[in-house]
Amino acid sequence: MYQKNDELIATVVATGANGEGIIKDENFVIFVPFCLPQEKVKIKLLKVEKKYAYGKLIEVIEPSPFRVKPFCDVFGKCGGCQLQHVNYDKQIEIKKRTILDAFVKVAGINVDINDVVCGSSVVRYRNKLQLPVTQTDKGLQIGFYAENSHRVVPVSDCPINPVWTSDIIKCLTEYMQKNNLKGYDEFNHTGDVREITAREVNGSLIITLVCLKKSIKNVNDFVEILKQRIDKEFTLYLNINDLKTNVIYGEKFVLVHGKSEYDCNMLTIKHSMGVRSFMQVNDEVCAKLYSKVKDSIDFDKTPVVIDAYSGAGLMTAYLALDAKKAFGIEIIPEAVAIANKLAKRNGLEDRITNYLGKCEDILPNLVQSESKLNDVCVVLDPPRKGCDIKVIKALLTCNVSRIVYVSCKPQTLARDIGLLTGSLIEKDGILTKNDCDINGVYKVDELTMFDMFPNTKHVESIACLSRK
Ligand SMILES: C[S@@+](CC[C@H](N)C(=O)[O-])C[C@H]1O[C@@H](n2cnc3c(N)ncnc32)[C@H](O)[C@@H]1O
Repeated sequence: MYQKNDELIATVVATGANGEGIIKDENFVIFVPFCLPQEKVKIKLLKVEKKYAYGKLIEVIEPSPFRVKPFCDVFGKCGGCQLQHVNYDKQIEIKKRTILDAFVKVAGINVDINDVVCGSSVVRYRNKLQLPVTQTDKGLQIGFYAENSHRVVPVSDCPINPVWTSDIIKCLTEYMQKNNLKGYDEFNHTGDVREITAREVNGSLIITLVCLKKSIKNVNDFVEILKQRIDKEFTLYLNINDLKTNVIYGEKFVLVHGKSEYDCNMLTIKHSMGVRSFMQVNDEVCAKLYSKVKDSIDFDKTPVVIDAYSGAGLMTAYLALDAKKAFGIEIIPEAVAIANKLAKRNGLEDRITNYLGKCEDILPNLVQSESKLNDVCVVLDPPRKGCDIKVIKALLTCNVSRIVYVSCKPQTLARDIGLLTGSLIEKDGILTKNDCDINGVYKVDELTMFDMFPNTKHVESIACLSRK
């Protein structure tokens, strides 16, 4: 019926899981980014499948009262933000609905969101900048990738990134132009600079220039240019990445200027941040999220905590302040080494054991042995794909009193909670909805949403479950 490049005028009826507008024609669905329910819009179809299509917004004919003017010049072009055209209260409503819809669609359960936690600012909230640097027929391009693409949209600043973003871009441009250096040409695998990243730690910056070759011309020039413009203490690393890959960093980091690490303190836990450390991008909301995890655990009832997918161990240490014993499980060796250092530094090494490995391999035996001795709470903070089924099965069969599940992807959160509450059943890798009497092992006590990434489609949430 519909064909690619068709233009049509239609009314948006809902918002999709990625913040886009949804248009329906009987059973045919069209997904169109940057438009809102009730808006009358003119669109063009870019890709048409049998039952659905993707469209591009051409004109808003009748705007929603929730539409606002985006504050960034490249909104809609760069892939960073999806919701700048929506006022903030409505953004929260959209994200809330995305989470609740995921529970209904994926798991067949109705839940409530008890609380929505936001930061004090919806701009400049990120502590970490990451910019690809490319060379095209238009010359040097420093910016962000367009959505689902490797085309760089050049920027001179980014309002959700820190205030020093424009200085970093200016310094890099000056250095590269002065030394006739080239950005990365992905097609020919040539060039000098692939990316620049910068992370603010306790008022100082850790900057990394990702290069294609083992060294780069006159790197001290870059240090001098940075010194002139950046009014902060800073560190500069070179990272060498000569592989044809989407992974940002190569194995090797070379310290060019400044300290290798910086001390910081979060929620009374002392730690240091280096170039490889993983931390959430929004410090303020991250602290609120960790506090919520801790407040959700009654340490008198569950004195032992297993922090699964524990990263660099900050949350494990924070929980160990109140727990009799805390275990971390993490797959990345460097992160586990940092977690061990952090435990020692905070005098918690007797109370923390960090395991290196996969949760699916370690957690089943660990919960089984620990739950025989003490009541156990398991904190889950998996990557976007959610928990491995072996982790879920271990939680269903062992006597775990409480689960606190931190999630950055509502759909996989809903799937895993469905399995834990019994609304979903897994057999031979296939999930089916359990329409009979739900008689699962856990019940959902509370669901809280955290707006860690305002103006984008991304959202964090915490689900607290207890054993029935
Ligand atoms: C969303 S992060 C959470 C990190 C940490 N809880 C925090 O707050 O910083 C997910 C972590 O899980 C780790 N990871 C991914 N797959 C894993 C697996 N199968 N077993 C153990 N850890 C895994 C990743 O390396 C990453 O550190």
